[in-house]
Amino acid sequence: MKLANRLDRLGTETAFAVAATAADWLAKGNEVFPFHLGDLNLATPANISAAMQRAVAEGKTGYCPNAGIAPLRLALAESLGKQRNVIFAPENIAVQPGGKPVIGKFLRSVMNPGDEVLYPNPGFPIYESQIEFNDGVAVPYKYLDTPNGFQIDLDYLKSKITSKTKALILNDQQNPLAAEMTDQERQALADLANKHNLWVLADEAYFDIRYAGESKSIISLAGMQDRTVILYTFSKKFAMTGWRLGAAIGPRDLVDRISKLNTNEESCTAQFVQWAGVEAINGDQSGANELVRVLKSRRDATIAGINKVPGMRVHTPNSAFYVFPEVSETMKRTGHKDVADFALDALHNSGMSFCTRRHFGRPAPDEKGNYIRLAYSGIDNAKIDKGLARLAEWVASK
Ligand SMILES: Cc1ncc(COP(=O)(O)O)c(C=O)c1O
Repeated sequence: MKLANRLDRLGTETAFAVAATAADWLAKGNEVFPFHLGDLNLATPANISAAMQRAVAEGKTGYCPNAGIAPLRLALAESLGKQRNVIFAPENIAVQPGGKPVIGKFLRSVMNPGDEVLYPNPGFPIYESQIEFNDGVAVPYKYLDTPNGFQIDLDYLKSKITSKTKALILNDQQNPLAAEMTDQERQALADLANKHNLWVLADEAYFDIRYAGESKSIISLAGMQDRTVILYTFSKKFAMTGWRLGAAIGPRDLVDRISKLNTNEESCTAQFVQWAGVEAINGDQSGANELVRVLKSRRDATIAGINKVPGMRVHTPNSAFYVFPEVSETMKRTGHKDVADFALDALHNSGMSFCTRRHFGRPAPDEKGNYIRLAYSGIDNAKIDKGLARLAEWVASK
């Protein structure tokens, strides 16, 4: 039986394949240090879980409004508006089963077949997959590896804007680079969006995972509120990846369209999960603050461990929970030309499991360097230390 052609254009998150290889190695009786998946091995704060259980006990288990329950839309409007210095009404919020659905729903709401959409590469692989699946043209923009960290190559991005460009996808506190925009870069991107009349998807999945400095949103800049949709998620901030709760936040007419997609696709997000979301936003924040404290100590351990691996060079990010070391010198020592071979041998010789640059979009033909991504959200400090020490030992033995 022949399947629909459109499925040929659907990509995936190949990080899950790395997880399968690691699970296989573990099943053979080896110790594995899981740095591959951006999931958390930390519990959802107890007050949030209790709110969900209360909601179930109270019978809040039926269908609910497609755009989300009123208290959650209000809580998100007030809290996110305050943080970003803009005014949101509940009508600006469409609750979603996770942050990920916002990507496809945004694209289907603003993009016609053949329209071009700019997206970060390396970046979250679902952007490219959803643009192509929805008949758009995926146009990657790239980053420069500077002494101050990774920065969007603005000249390159500008050179890719054409009369067909419809939207710009931005991911500050970026996955996989943990790159952040400076105020000047954010303003330059807002100027481009205003000048070329672009829709903007601001993926703010890691906005609140911050160890130093301050998160800022492009939506706060002049002219941006009418053209920006924020991808918001409870997944990372409240360790709720499996709960599936997020929101699209944007102009009312666009949010109405997105809610109509909700009606067609999942009817609504689980009501008792939304009540837990109200507690997450309005309730005690000590659990969420503790998560960031734990992640910061893991970041420090990860950086310290990487710095002991011969040949690795890494930036210390102030947000998100990823690091993206450059490993060309290390690969020279271990005798690898291909970063995927290096990753597999690292697993077999040290138990370290991680993704490479190739899991985050197709590399440009002229791209330089060899990079890997370590996610430190799902691994305790003791294992971070042990895994990286083993990696250092293996590399040093070469
Ligand atoms: C950049 C980015 N955006 C969005 C998401 C989606 O997260 P979720 O669907 O769990 O909210 C992720 C998850 O890893 C991510 O890294």
